[in-house]
Amino acid sequence: MGARFPSRQSIMDVNITSTISREMQWQVARLIHEAFDGKIDRLLLRTTDGARAIRLIKIATRFDQGYYAIDGSTVVGCMGYSKPRNQFLHFSWRALRREFGCFGAMGRLMSQYFSRDKFQDDEMYITLIAVAEGYRSTGIGSRLIKILANHGKRVCKKRLVLDVVDSNPRARNLYERLGFTSIKQYNTSWFSKPAEFTTVVRMALPL
Ligand SMILES: CC(C)(COP(=O)(O)OP(=O)(O)OC[C@H]1O[C@@H](n2cnc3c(N)ncnc32)[C@H](O)[C@@H]1OP(=O)(O)O)[C@@H](O)C(=O)NCCC(=O)NCCS
Repeated sequence: MGARFPSRQSIMDVNITSTISREMQWQVARLIHEAFDGKIDRLLLRTTDGARAIRLIKIATRFDQGYYAIDGSTVVGCMGYSKPRNQFLHFSWRALRREFGCFGAMGRLMSQYFSRDKFQDDEMYITLIAVAEGYRSTGIGSRLIKILANHGKRVCKKRLVLDVVDSNPRARNLYERLGFTSIKQYNTSWFSKPAEFTTVVRMALPL
């Protein structure tokens, strides 16, 4: 199926919510899988089976730590944040072992450990943000980030932080336009070459 291009009216009707139905949880898993263009499959799951990756993403997601853009009954955007003890996306030993066996699960768990979300207690960390292709450049990504910034202020966080890869200048432009600045840079080529990036930039927005 080709990209779905919304009308002006439907863009205006897009609502942001933090609670979604079970069916919408599957839509979120598919959206994350599509938006990251197989990066999660290649880096963490090391599988070429898209359906399997979507199933694992669905199990691994803490949907209560997210905001979702909804057009009618379709999820067209999502943003997840991590808490110090609960990452938005976390593949459990149990789920990985069931899919890949003990040996396969161990390697994948190690990859996840090295790429885990790292942040301070006074920071609100954006694990991921994704907008469906036909809905991009209409302000949904900016709206999701502004909502999380308000949430962060309410719970007394000092900064909103995220990591962006060097192969994604479009996302970086968006963050800069919203006031984020780069605070650190990591070379990740030893780990991230299969996903076609070599550097990760940590960006922060004071709240
Ligand atoms: C990055 C991403 C989330 C941005 O979402 P988005 O909804 O397109 O973001 P916005 O619409 O708020 O802003 C994006 C652009 O639209 C423009 N824009 C925003 N509102 C607009 C409007 N009402 N009219 C015209 N243009 C608008 C912005 O200026 C910005 O310009 P750019 O294309 O030069 O960057 C989206 O591209 C995506 O899902 N990418 C794939 C996943 C990904 O890379 N995630 C980030 C990982 S760090």
